[in-house]
Amino acid sequence: MEADFRGKEGMEKAVKRQKEKFERLSEEEKKDFDLESLTNPYSDSRILNISQDKEIKKVLVGIDIEPAEILLAKELGGIDLVIGHHPIGKALANLSDVMQLQCDVLNYYGIPINVAEGLMKERIGEVARGVNAINHQRTVDTARILGINLMCAHSTADNLAAKFLKDKIEKEDGLTRLEDLIDFLKGIPEYQEAAKIGVGPKIFVGDPERRCGRIAITEITGGTEGSPKIYEKMAIAGIGTIIGMHVSEEHKKEAEASNLNVVIAGHISSDSIGMNLFLDELEKKGIEIVPCSGLIRISRIKQK
Ligand SMILES: [Fe+2]
Repeated sequence: MEADFRGKEGMEKAVKRQKEKFERLSEEEKKDFDLESLTNPYSDSRILNISQDKEIKKVLVGIDIEPAEILLAKELGGIDLVIGHHPIGKALANLSDVMQLQCDVLNYYGIPINVAEGLMKERIGEVARGVNAINHQRTVDTARILGINLMCAHSTADNLAAKFLKDKIEKEDGLTRLEDLIDFLKGIPEYQEAAKIGVGPKIFVGDPERRCGRIAITEITGGTEGSPKIYEKMAIAGIGTIIGMHVSEEHKKEAEASNLNVVIAGHISSDSIGMNLFLDELEKKGIEIVPCSGLIRISRIKQK
């Protein structure tokens, strides 16, 4: 919550609002209410299975946790908890609820809140319908049957990555052209590792010599891709370059039409940054971390 664009205070208000909504519900409606939302405002970051109530000393952590990774935990033995990044189970079913965050992020960069909310409403509905048909509980069921504790941390980790990049970019002088921005990103260890396997930071729209203008971190956190119609509004609001994790062809075309530059830092590598900042806190508590499923584990504890 401290890393959230809305600030800790804004998040406390959101939690309070959720409590008030809950209290207004009828007993019947309360039955299906996600009680965890009364303390944790991130619907895509949830405890998914508790099979053993025990102290957590060793965790298996991956970007995508599927039944294969649960079997891996069982095979390895001694894993007290499996932590995934991408949402699964109810965290995936309710993914669209966190997308509201994007409205506030866009507003922070100068887009009127009414415009952001109007365009996002349509897209949030699309995502909610899109994830509806998925077999949500497949991995959770595997964890339950094999007796493995399971949770996922999605927007909570992405918030950390967004804040990390935003703070770093704001401190950096001389990010004039896109080539400077690419060099800067390549200085971050997770992106260096990703570059070795061909997925380092890349310019998707624009060319190396074009100037960045105002750089916005609008596409690192907030569930999944926002509305393609937003790019025109962003250009009007004075944004020159967007740093994102990934971009669809439709979004890319819209950005191009609005003369916005798009730099793709990398998907799994950006996800890894957020997870690493969270995992550092676990490591400080003496928890052993076993990375799997794409996680590029970099510890920043010793560098501080
Ligand atoms: Fe991701």
